[in-house]
Amino acid sequence: MRKALVIGNWKMNGQQVLNKSLVEQIKTGVANELLGRIDVGVCPPAVYAQSVIEQLSGVDIVVGAQNMSEHDSGAFTGEVSAVMLKDIGCGLVILGHSERRALFAETNVAVAAKVKAALAAGLMPVVCVGETLEQREAGKAADVVREQLDQGLAGVDASELSKVVIAYEPVWAIGTGLTASPEQAQEIHHLLRKALEAKSAAVAANVRLLYGGSVNAANAEALFAQPDIDGGLIGGASLKAEDFIAICRAAA
Ligand code: G3H
Repeated sequence: MRKALVIGNWKMNGQQVLNKSLVEQIKTGVANELLGRIDVGVCPPAVYAQSVIEQLSGVDIVVGAQNMSEHDSGAFTGEVSAVMLKDIGCGLVILGHSERRALFAETNVAVAAKVKAALAAGLMPVVCVGETLEQREAGKAADVVREQLDQGLAGVDASELSKVVIAYEPVWAIGTGLTASPEQAQEIHHLLRKALEAKSAAVAANVRLLYGGSVNAANAEALFAQPDIDGGLIGGASLKAEDFIAICRAAA
């Protein structure tokens, strides 16, 4: 039985005062009622990760990053490494988000290197895959996500696979208010799980597959009810405590 996981990706939003209030509300909202039944994570901008970690001290909510370098240290101005994230207490890192791919030219090869660095540092990589609208309309959605999965996990062996989370985020659904229908999402999630079985059937059955793309309090339950959808990667709605808590509740 896979434990549901809901992660808030704040993207480049928030400032200290707002973060404190958001985290406080999430903490109160999920603490007794939901934690234990589901796993919850929040990914603030890296500069705020440490203060969020301190605020969540003693609370079982994982704090993560939205990106990282594939290198551990060195002359890489502006970068943050997996080792550093682990050092301050992060537990996960989002990798290969479509915004990184589209705006920062991140390739599957780079994603694979980052996945390996994250695993080596003891972080849980949350690897994002997803097709554009053009690719979907051309009937290529399955091929695109399959390739992103295969190449993004290149070199990750079966023993490490259980530590990886995959997030299916159709690019056309991100921040648009357009959500993949539960059936559309399930179809891709099923395909992803089948693809993971090539590495290890036993492990694939335990890998958590999250859906992301305009998830909100109203549509979360139907999405999470699908057999291969194990939770969500939440953008916009994760910035509103009430909505994020409702989404967490839908996953429980
Ligand atoms: O990482 C989160 C996704 O990009 C989804 O964003 O919920 O605002 O559509 P969204």
